[in-house]
Amino acid sequence: MLKGIFKNIRPDVGIDLGTSNTLVYIKGKGIVVNEPSVVAINTRTDEVLAIGEDAKRMIGKTPGHIITSKPLVEGVISDFEVAEQMLKYFINKFIANKISVLSAKPRIVIGIPLDVTEVERKAVEDAALGAGAREVFLAEEPMLAAIGARLPVQESTGNMIVDIGGGTTQIAVISLSGIVAWKSLRIAGDTLNKNIIQYIRENFNLLVGDATAEKIKLSIGSVFAADQPVEMAVSGRDLINGLPKEIVITDSEIREAIARSVRTIVSNIKSTIESTPPELVADIYRRGIVLSGGGALLRGLDALVRQEARIPVAVIDDPLTCVVRGAGLVLEDLDNLKDVLLPSTH
Ligand SMILES: Nc1ncnc2c1ncn2[C@@H]1O[C@H](COP(=O)(O)OP(=O)(O)OP(=O)(O)O)[C@@H](O)[C@H]1O
Ligand SMILES: [Mg+2]
Repeated sequence: MLKGIFKNIRPDVGIDLGTSNTLVYIKGKGIVVNEPSVVAINTRTDEVLAIGEDAKRMIGKTPGHIITSKPLVEGVISDFEVAEQMLKYFINKFIANKISVLSAKPRIVIGIPLDVTEVERKAVEDAALGAGAREVFLAEEPMLAAIGARLPVQESTGNMIVDIGGGTTQIAVISLSGIVAWKSLRIAGDTLNKNIIQYIRENFNLLVGDATAEKIKLSIGSVFAADQPVEMAVSGRDLINGLPKEIVITDSEIREAIARSVRTIVSNIKSTIESTPPELVADIYRRGIVLSGGGALLRGLDALVRQEARIPVAVIDDPLTCVVRGAGLVLEDLDNLKDVLLPSTH
């Protein structure tokens, strides 16, 4: 009977451990954490100073003894200890102290990218265990995104999802709870920021930071020209004399800066379709492609994919939360959806 009680109060948790953002879903409550995957550390004392939004604000502005660490690079954990601490913080913020019995440790559903090594996959599982999980269930991120988008992943029909995050673009065709055709690229939102930094350096001799590049992308980044050209003032450091300088950059220049990366993403979507069995292509043709992840919000990207692939394309509502919502749906209906889970690495 006790077991039954614990079952009801046990806080099951879904996690999207992303390169840019980490989200936490608690069964019965919904999304409780949605913060940047950044940790600020005092290297003199090894003390964690800030995690999430507060740490992100420090990027590029810290004195020598403070570092801001992004524990994930291109979708995979690059700094295990920091990743584990970050997860522990985000999870415990909401469920620690409330129930302090051992059996109340949560079960965790957490996404991993396609195309990760066994070691990288184990790192995610171990980080979740280290953060306090009693049991960890792994699932591919595009599978969770598709579930979050309420696609019928368990049916024998072709569902195509393209999740464009900060570190990876994951393209997947799903049928019967499995991934039939896929591609995983390390070209995504962060790449676009880098493209913008490089473009400004080469064309204006101006050095700008990541946060500025991101701001430019969000405010004037696009794939097609709008009716009215837009421009934006950007300041940084002049590479020639080292002094502060301001330039004005236009939407068409930003399009040029990111064009190659955007083309690569689109051509990989096309080639994934080419490697998909014809029956499933027919389904995709009818049902369309769903875009998720923050990168899906780049203006006009959906229209470009539609034009190039000649298939209907939709951006899922609230694309940044799609994966964690999928993890939440899996938690809420674990018995029915267990066939989408991957085997544990232990
Ligand atoms: N309006 C927007 N236009 C263009 N890009 C955007 C927009 N909003 C967010 N992004 C980009 O989306 C990316 C973050 O998306 P998301 O949170 O889905 O990634 P992530 O899950 O953390 O990363 P990954 O899945 O690659 O590990 C960032 O690169 C951000 O710049
Ligand atoms: Mg993601």
